[in-house]
Amino acid sequence: MSDNAPARTEDVPAPEHAVTLAGTTAAPTLFENPGMPVHVHRMADSDPRAAKRAERQVATMFVLSMVGTLVFLVSYFAVDLDDVVHIPFIGDTLLQNLLLGCGLGFGMLFIGLGAVHWAKTLMPDEEVVEERHDLRSSDETRADAVAVLAEGGETSGIGRRPLIKLTLGGALGLFGLPFIVGLRDLGPMPGDWLSTTFWETGMRLVSDPELAPIKASDVTIGSVFHVMPEGIDQTDDVLEQQAKAAVILIRLDPTDIKNSKELDWGYEGIVAYSKICTHVGCPVGLYEQQTHHLLCPCHQSTFDVTDDCKVIFGPAHRRLPQLAISVDDEGYLVARQPFQEAVGPSFPERGQRHPVKGQSS
Ligand code: FES
Repeated sequence: MSDNAPARTEDVPAPEHAVTLAGTTAAPTLFENPGMPVHVHRMADSDPRAAKRAERQVATMFVLSMVGTLVFLVSYFAVDLDDVVHIPFIGDTLLQNLLLGCGLGFGMLFIGLGAVHWAKTLMPDEEVVEERHDLRSSDETRADAVAVLAEGGETSGIGRRPLIKLTLGGALGLFGLPFIVGLRDLGPMPGDWLSTTFWETGMRLVSDPELAPIKASDVTIGSVFHVMPEGIDQTDDVLEQQAKAAVILIRLDPTDIKNSKELDWGYEGIVAYSKICTHVGCPVGLYEQQTHHLLCPCHQSTFDVTDDCKVIFGPAHRRLPQLAISVDDEGYLVARQPFQEAVGPSFPERGQRHPVKGQSS
């Protein structure tokens, strides 16, 4: 046997022109069988009707793949999200989930089965061996490899079998659609939902969780209130709104306040700040009276309440946003305006609703 020649099992007649992996024509040789099972000739190799039958089988599998993918698409759009179906031994399950899973599964399965069946019944049935060689092939071998690949395309017969070509193209083309359609579930875009809260001008501050309005005269120096905007309990998405609107209210001695904007946005030393940590959004609820520090329990970011809640320690990069407050005719604390910047952790489109003079982030 020559070094580079392909070898065939003993009972397989060598073809007229055995082709090496390097693409050169070599004299027919016999392969010393190391114990492989005896080669069995396929019907499709010698019987054109068997080949035609195999071709139809492959096409049927690709068609079944298309059906599976279509089931996925139809169920995604047409089946109600709440429809439930009962399956024996499993119980109740959502119909759409079932159809999406089965559709996608069958779509993939039958493309695979079709490809395997095609290879096993219709593609050339030859066993070849290749001697070890240097990792990098010579330029000549690489050029030959390209030629062999081209020849592989020719010998797969796809050009001569338009039915397979058509159905495989359809199955593969359609199979990409579920992934594109699935992108729809990434939306909708949040719009200004992340950068606005429930707070509006004139809204009363109410204690959380009692939801009782708070009079300025009830807030003594050193006291802390956890606060929500009045009416938040009437919203449909109350939990989501609460997660953004939570505020902590603290009364300081006005002479302790170092920041003029903070003094101006407060009321006689009462200041209100977003309770949502600007690091990753935990509630900032630990207030230390002596130092006037607000501490986030998650990663220990610390904010100085006497200096407009500037970050003095920890991973947060932005100060807590302040809510400007005043009192109404009855002496209850109210918001003078909504938050002037997004509360909570930073995100790419955060920005500010209106530039705030004298406030840096
Ligand atoms: S969430 Fe507050 S420090 Fe991390």
